[in-house]
Amino acid sequence: MACSSSEGFWRLGLLAAILLRDGELMLAVVDATEVAGFSLPLPYRLFFLLIEPIATLLGAYYAFFNQPTYLNLTHAASAPSPVPLGTSIALSQLANLYFAFALTEALVLRSTSDLRVWKTVLFCLLVADFGHLYTVSVLGPQIYWNVFEWNAIDWGNIGYLYFAASMRKFTGFQVNGADTWLEFHKNEFQPKPFGDYDVDIKIECCGVCGSDLHTISGGWGEQNFPLAVGHEIVGTAIRVGPKVTLIKPGQRVGVGAQSYSCLDCRQCKNDNETYCQKQLDTYGAVWPDTGIVSQGGYSSHVRTHEHWVFPIPDALPSTVAAPMLCAGLTAYSPLVRNGCGPGKKVGIVGLGGIGHLGVLFAKALGAEVWAISRTHAKEEDARKLGADGFLATADKDWNKEHVMTFDLIINTANSFEGFDLDAYLSLLDVHGRWVSVGLPEGDGIKIRNQTFLGNGCFIGSSHLGSRKETLAMLQLAADKGIKTWVEEVPINEKNLATIMQRLHKNDVKYRFCLTNYQDQFGA
Ligand SMILES: NC(=O)c1ccc[n+]([C@@H]2O[C@H](COP(=O)([O-])OP(=O)(O)OC[C@H]3O[C@@H](n4cnc5c(N)ncnc54)[C@H](OP(=O)(O)O)[C@@H]3O)[C@@H](O)[C@H]2O)c1
Ligand SMILES: [Zn+2]
Ligand SMILES: [Zn+2]
Repeated sequence: MACSSSEGFWRLGLLAAILLRDGELMLAVVDATEVAGFSLPLPYRLFFLLIEPIATLLGAYYAFFNQPTYLNLTHAASAPSPVPLGTSIALSQLANLYFAFALTEALVLRSTSDLRVWKTVLFCLLVADFGHLYTVSVLGPQIYWNVFEWNAIDWGNIGYLYFAASMRKFTGFQVNGADTWLEFHKNEFQPKPFGDYDVDIKIECCGVCGSDLHTISGGWGEQNFPLAVGHEIVGTAIRVGPKVTLIKPGQRVGVGAQSYSCLDCRQCKNDNETYCQKQLDTYGAVWPDTGIVSQGGYSSHVRTHEHWVFPIPDALPSTVAAPMLCAGLTAYSPLVRNGCGPGKKVGIVGLGGIGHLGVLFAKALGAEVWAISRTHAKEEDARKLGADGFLATADKDWNKEHVMTFDLIINTANSFEGFDLDAYLSLLDVHGRWVSVGLPEGDGIKIRNQTFLGNGCFIGSSHLGSRKETLAMLQLAADKGIKTWVEEVPINEKNLATIMQRLHKNDVKYRFCLTNYQDQFGA
């Protein structure tokens, strides 16, 4: 029952990791004890969650209440009886430390991944090690040297740690190729190596963006398959890197469509990180140096640099907030950057995921808002969303009454089928702005300068938005009680195929949000 020293190498691993400031090793140790909620095989769980704490507690019990037995069990064959006072004190101190450690190990470490807590515990263990040393000096080293007894288990710990580290994987619903884009397979995948600024998030729900469909169906061309898409993610931060300051473990957070930029270039320093030349997407991008393809939110976890992890205000339910992280931001950023506000007449083309949030945010920003849809099918919804007016492009002369009256139009259309750009642009006042965020498949359309000569309008585009804008948007939504219209769908292979087909047919009001992650990936 020399169990009381059985944590030896595990602690040494942690100590070495911290002394070496090796974040990877440190987190491997953390993972090994399942702090982050990753699944380990049952034998390992049994050992770390049950056997080890019980053994430690038993060791403490004997060392404190029955020292002769303790000494016998630890093969201190030459232990004198009665136990000398100095030895007795040393053992009692050790017992206290074991007891504290068993409790800490069982409770604290398993409920937090905050490295500061881990470092504090490590310090306590260091003190305990001095207790061990003192005991050795009094009783002789043989009590720790019997490799055939319990202590032998120590020698396997390092190998175990590396094994556990190597199997740190996430699970997600991946598509294998564009020709089978309705077949989702639940696979394990290797996330990118954990960096000092990274946050691991256990996903709770994820919105289904039009881009997910373009990507898996091959509409945007070649992709890095197998791929789990999804970039409207809300979940819980379960682990943060040692240099993370923006996010705390346990916080409810979101991740959108972007997961990396250099944070050092002219654009990054200007709150234009979404336009950084080194920007990487949340899914389908290749992480430099590793060759690992980023995987999105149809997964158990996502690992993201803190800059692209956003605390979600309490007032926003997760499924309401999730679609804002791509669709909402894609609408919000061009609205605020192009002067949407009181006294402005703003049009939103396309009442889909982005479009309906565009109406909600343009209204919240104080503009007069017009929804511009293809038919009247969504007119009632548009009014409910707060639109002041509605135009259906299928109507004859639909634009006539409004020619040269709009200050700004955000175009979210995801296809150019029957798309009459001239008719839309005629709506703009002099130097009015047309900002396209939709990214239709195919070659695009031709533009003639004459088209925008009549009003001298500006044609532009917009990509996602900055961290600053994301935080401001979420706060605005919380303050004004803005509610995304979501259809919640439990995530599984069958439902994913169904909703992709429905999205393809434009049959959603107005955003699917995948839920019930715990049924697929555990609590
Ligand atoms: N720029 C960015 O940063 C960014 C970010 C995210 C997504 N996107 C892109 O934005 C587009 C929209 O995404 P989403 O998630 O909002 O998609 P969505 O929910 O499918 O909505 C697209 C809407 O576009 C309208 N539309 C479709 N075909 C049209 C056509 N031929 N002419 C006119 N309107 C048409 C439809 O509205 P009506 O039924 O009302 O006509 C439809 O509801 C996608 O291409 C997506 O990839 C861009
Ligand atoms: Zn998106
Ligand atoms: Zn940059």
